[in-house]
Amino acid sequence: MDIETLQTDLMAAIGSADTLEALEAVRVSALGKQGSVSALLKTMGGMSPEERQTQGPIINGLRESITTALTAKKADLETAELNRRLATERVDMTLPASDVPRGTVHPVSQVMDELAEIFADMGFAVAEGPEIEDDWHNFTALNIPETHPARAMHDTFYFPDDMARDGQKMVLRTHTSPVQIRTMTSQEPPIRIIAPGRVYRSDSDATHTPMFHQIEGLVIDKGIHLGHLKWTLETFLKAYFEREDVVLRLRPSYFPFTEPSVEVDVGYSVINGKRVIGGAEGWMEVLGSGMVHRKVIEACGLDPDVWQGFAFGTGVDRLAMLKYGMDDLRAFFDGDNRWLQHYGFNALDVPTLSGGVGA
Ligand code: DAH
Repeated sequence: MDIETLQTDLMAAIGSADTLEALEAVRVSALGKQGSVSALLKTMGGMSPEERQTQGPIINGLRESITTALTAKKADLETAELNRRLATERVDMTLPASDVPRGTVHPVSQVMDELAEIFADMGFAVAEGPEIEDDWHNFTALNIPETHPARAMHDTFYFPDDMARDGQKMVLRTHTSPVQIRTMTSQEPPIRIIAPGRVYRSDSDATHTPMFHQIEGLVIDKGIHLGHLKWTLETFLKAYFEREDVVLRLRPSYFPFTEPSVEVDVGYSVINGKRVIGGAEGWMEVLGSGMVHRKVIEACGLDPDVWQGFAFGTGVDRLAMLKYGMDDLRAFFDGDNRWLQHYGFNALDVPTLSGGVGA
C-alpha cells in the first residue's frame, strides 16, 4: 500500500472513530508496536542514504499528521463526552435528600434557639462570655468572696496556679452568672440580656454531667422590682412550655448575688402517671432568681441607688428534659446517632413564636 493511501485510510478511520476506545484502536493500528506507520518507520533503517533523504520526510510527515489528527480527535471526543455527562448527570439541588440519613438539631441547640426567640420578643439581646473565666468574674464580683461557703458548693475545676492571669486564678466557669458582670462592665444600662452557654462542675451521675448548659437572664434599669421579674418569668415559661395554664410559685431562697432571692417552681399535673407541666398538683423547681444585689451592681462600677435589676439562671438541659421527655442527662452528650435521630429536630424548622417555638 502506498503512503498516500495509508494516510487517507488512517485519516478516514480517525474521522469515523466515535468513541475514545475506537480512536485508541486506530492509534494502536497505526502507531502501536505492530502498527502500519511504525512498520514504515522501521523500513528507514534498511534504506540507502539517498532513499532515506526522499522517503524520510514523507514517512515522518505521515507520522506527524496522524499524531496531530489523533490528538485533535481525542480532544473532540473528550469534550463531547464531558458535555454528554454534564447533560445527563445534572444534579437538582432543590430535590429533598431521600434515603440518606439526615442530621438533626440537638435538643440543647433547639432549646437555646427557642429561648433566644422567646426573649428576643421581650427585647432581650443574647450575650456571651468566656468558658475559661477568672476568679473575680466567676465569684468575687458576684459577691462570693474567697471565704464564702457557696464556693465549696460549686465543685469548681480550677486551673493550676501558674496559669493565673493578672493575678487571678482561672477556672472553668461554674455558671453563666459571670456574663452578668461582663455585660454590666462593658455596656451602659439599660440592659436586657440572656446568656446561654456551657458551664462546668466536677460532678457526674444520671442528672449531673461535668459539662452542662445554663441560661442567664439580666435586666438592669431604673425602678425595676420583683413584679417585673415575675411577669418576665411567667411570660417566658408560658411561651416555652407552649401552654397558658403554667402556674409559678416563687419561694424565698438565697443566692449571694441576689437580694431578695427567689426560687421558682412550676406546677405540674399527673396525667396517666406522668408529670405534665400545667396546673398545680405538684411543684418542680425550674429557676433561681432575684433582685441583683447592691454589691454586684457596685462591683461593676454602677450606682445601686440609680440602677436596679433582676437576674435569673436555669439549666438548659433540664428545661429540654422537662419539655421533650428525656430522662437521662448523660445521653445528651454521648453522641449516639440513634438518640439524636429520636430526640433531634429538623434543621429547617426554625423556632418562631408565630409558628410555635417547639414545632
Ligand atoms: N448561678 C446560679 C447557679 O448556677 C443560678 C442563678 C441563681 C442565677 C439565681 C441567677 C440568679 O442569675 O439570680 O446555681
